[in-house]
Amino acid sequence: MDKFVVRGGNPLLGTIKVSGAKNSALPCMAAAILTEDEVILENIPQVRDIETERKLLASMGAEVELGYGRAQHRTRIKCGILSDPIAKYEIVKTMRASSLVLGPLIARTGMARVAMPGGCAIGGRPIDLHIKGLESMGATVTYDHGYLEARADRLKGAHIVFDKITVTGTEDLLMAAVLADGETVFENCAREPEVTDLAALLTAMGAKIEGAGTSTIKVQGVTRLHGARHRINPDRIEAGTFLIAGAITGGDLNVDACEPKHLGALISKLEECGVKLDVGKDSIRVRSGSGPLKAADISTQEYPGFPTDMQAQYMALATQTEGTSIVTENIFENRFMHVGELNRMGADITVQGRTATVRGKSPLQSAAVMCSDLRASASLVLAALVADGETILDRVYHLDRGYEHFEDKLRGVGAQIRRMGEVFGKK
Ligand code: EPZ
Repeated sequence: MDKFVVRGGNPLLGTIKVSGAKNSALPCMAAAILTEDEVILENIPQVRDIETERKLLASMGAEVELGYGRAQHRTRIKCGILSDPIAKYEIVKTMRASSLVLGPLIARTGMARVAMPGGCAIGGRPIDLHIKGLESMGATVTYDHGYLEARADRLKGAHIVFDKITVTGTEDLLMAAVLADGETVFENCAREPEVTDLAALLTAMGAKIEGAGTSTIKVQGVTRLHGARHRINPDRIEAGTFLIAGAITGGDLNVDACEPKHLGALISKLEECGVKLDVGKDSIRVRSGSGPLKAADISTQEYPGFPTDMQAQYMALATQTEGTSIVTENIFENRFMHVGELNRMGADITVQGRTATVRGKSPLQSAAVMCSDLRASASLVLAALVADGETILDRVYHLDRGYEHFEDKLRGVGAQIRRMGEVFGKK
């Protein structure tokens, strides 16, 4: 199992480039199921979850070429024949987003068999809303041996009001609706940029969609979709993580190839803390201000609110601001796994229910720490960048699921970070 060794103390200086969004790329790859033509996706990040999705699509009979045409970040997918429309447990258990193939598989083949994801480190994460929506569209859903099987000769348009805002639920059902018979109206949809990105790809494939990016989406079903070429949005969470890396180390960092419009809530919060940001068209320069950073509260919300996927990284910063920050997690019930590890590094954080109270500023010390999920891992790296001494982070495979060449990118702007591979002494 790979580990990171991080020596704190260096301010990050220079330019760091943001990759394509993993959480856009995953549904966009699943959307290729909807056509027998070729779908070419640009700006696909080279991360573990993308490799898992490649395996998933390939296991169903699709041709998937990552790094197509010698371009490292281009992917070609052709789902000519889907001989085996099954998402097997071995794959779903390693990546919950595998349930994104449910909607497109039924829409394309009339049947989908998908392993039910269990809970995960950050919460129960059920997919009941995906299932309820498909049933409203006429699918019959049955369960056996940990799998759900959904069937429908052709899905029918429906009026679906989500009980709760769900990102992949909105994406999954959107992919089902584009080939359904008639009109589907979705209300209380997720407005995340990843939903808009998927809708742009589907539209390029011939789908008729109105309102993506708002809470009401209308879809006129069509009988066939064709191939398309699409460029994935920049990863707003990776960009946000780098902004905090610049701020926490007191550096001067240009976060390049990002989409500042997708980072509104984080930008306001960092400014409230006293971080200096120069926001450009597709880049943001982050510098430490003149005085010490000030504490500011956050409360995670669906987009355009403060993203739950930035909560852990923000908490690392909050340990370095003067005063008390209240961090409230509203999206997932168990997303404070990083707290214990930050406290082991010298932070002063207490948790009660969905609220964490962070008292700053605490001098952080190096320690051996354990990564528990993707964003918690990033939070620990950020803390390690300012800790006194050498921190060893175990289980960085969590981080590899969603950050492309994280340690190389950080090293390029002056961080002292290296990967220690235990397997056969590699790296
Ligand atoms: C997406 O997960 C992201 N994953 C997550 O990214 C992100 O944290 C999350 O949205 C919230 O922004 C991908 O896009 C692949 P939800 P998703 O359905 O879609 C409840 C990361 O670190 N819910 O919006 O699975 C659910 O339990 C991650 O990159 C139901 O009750 O999240 C949660 O409390 C992790 N029933 C809330 O809704 C359902 O059927 C929001 O979850 C579906 C969801």
